[in-house]
Amino acid sequence: MNRGSLDRRQFVRAAAAIASAVTAGVLPALASCGENGPDGGDLRTALPAPAALAAGASLVAAPGTASIAKGETAAVWLYNGGLPGPTVRVRRGEQLQIQHVNGLADPTIVHWHGLLVPEHQDGHPRDAIGPGATYSYNFPIVQRAGTFWYHPHAHRDTARQIQRGMAGFLIVSDAEEDALGLPSGDREILLLLQDRDADPARACEYNPSAADLHSGMLRGTPFGNGVRLPTRNVAGARYRIRILNASHARVYQLALDTNAPLTVIGNDGGLLASAEPCASVFLGVGERIDFVADFSGVPDGMRMMLKSLPFSIDSAPASAYPQGMALDLLELVRVGATGTAAPLLPATLSSITPLGAPAAERTFVFTSTDDAAMHRINGLSFDMDRVDVQVPFGQVERWTFRNESVHPHPVHVHGTHFQVMTRTGGRGTVYPYERGWKDTVLVMPLEAVEVLIQFNAYRGLFLLHCHNLEHEDLGMMLNVEVT
Ligand code: C2O
Ligand code: CU
Ligand code: CU
Repeated sequence: MNRGSLDRRQFVRAAAAIASAVTAGVLPALASCGENGPDGGDLRTALPAPAALAAGASLVAAPGTASIAKGETAAVWLYNGGLPGPTVRVRRGEQLQIQHVNGLADPTIVHWHGLLVPEHQDGHPRDAIGPGATYSYNFPIVQRAGTFWYHPHAHRDTARQIQRGMAGFLIVSDAEEDALGLPSGDREILLLLQDRDADPARACEYNPSAADLHSGMLRGTPFGNGVRLPTRNVAGARYRIRILNASHARVYQLALDTNAPLTVIGNDGGLLASAEPCASVFLGVGERIDFVADFSGVPDGMRMMLKSLPFSIDSAPASAYPQGMALDLLELVRVGATGTAAPLLPATLSSITPLGAPAAERTFVFTSTDDAAMHRINGLSFDMDRVDVQVPFGQVERWTFRNESVHPHPVHVHGTHFQVMTRTGGRGTVYPYERGWKDTVLVMPLEAVEVLIQFNAYRGLFLLHCHNLEHEDLGMMLNVEVT
């Protein structure tokens, strides 16, 4: 398409973006003009596809250099030299064997977020290894297909290590998913979302301010797969798009500017029972969403935007880059061939067995204060050597997560998945895309979320924590022992 001329649609979008940025008072109008103006497509960087982890390869954490935009690099810490790290693809029933090598100057350990693994394969901070050391992972894949991820879980150092560049996808496939004929190969887009500083010298540095320690680090510039303001060409065909929120604190409300719904097929725990068309999707830190987008009816040359819609949290403290600010996350440009008519999704994707009546109830209250241990659960700040909760193996329980702080808390549990039953206060609803199985659930200020949970994979020590990375590092985490 001709990029020299400003067509009316682009002009309207650029003008609207400038107007909203100026009203929100968060961006200088000129910066917004540069990013969204007539040459916007050229200022964006092609979304890289993460490399695949080669069979038998080690996972090495080490300092390196990443290309974060055209002609711009940053000093970072990476898994196998990639931001994101290499994608690990495994099938249900396979054994995953990986040597993790620590090439950093500080302790680290890999956690497989959403995977059912024995306790000492889970990356609990007590298992962290020192510089130069190696940790052996060797466990069977015992769960359904889904979109998972891996990241460091070093004691009080997770935020910095993820900020410096350490995170990657882990994709599980199985026969049930194969039968659905979902788009794959170059018709599958993996998108790891982070908000970072627009300044390349600061984009991958970690120097949190006092405000960052309270709210979690919020920045104003979207990055996808490690590049600033990504763009991706798409054919006139159906795509599977899997999105991971690997930010520190940012909550996204995902939507397409074409107003086409996101046809959600899966979330943290794998496939939903059936596809759910959703106008928008809230995605808290650590959560994943898996949807199908059909671009076969989109005219050649059209530019679309995956956005985060504006929303407001009444209690939220003032911030330069507040929760709920509008963000243009990923540009999608329709180019090239129009595919054949897209096959319809089957009416049933998977079957989800509801957990039975709970035999016990527990409540977890999330609070934030101004002292040193500022983020707590039930008044407790994380102690690596203290067991906080003992849960009998196989017992179904009802857990309530109550947010009594002014910040959103994406609540994450290791060692199992849960079913979200109710949300009261705040948004007051459980969204269709939160059905099925989840390992992380977003609890906004004033909300209480009830889940049914059962640990029936392994006994041992696992974690319950807020996945806001500063909250997690500053104590909002408990040890859960499955007995
Ligand atoms: Cu994404 Cu405790 O983890
Ligand atoms: Cu996890
Ligand atoms: Cu939190």
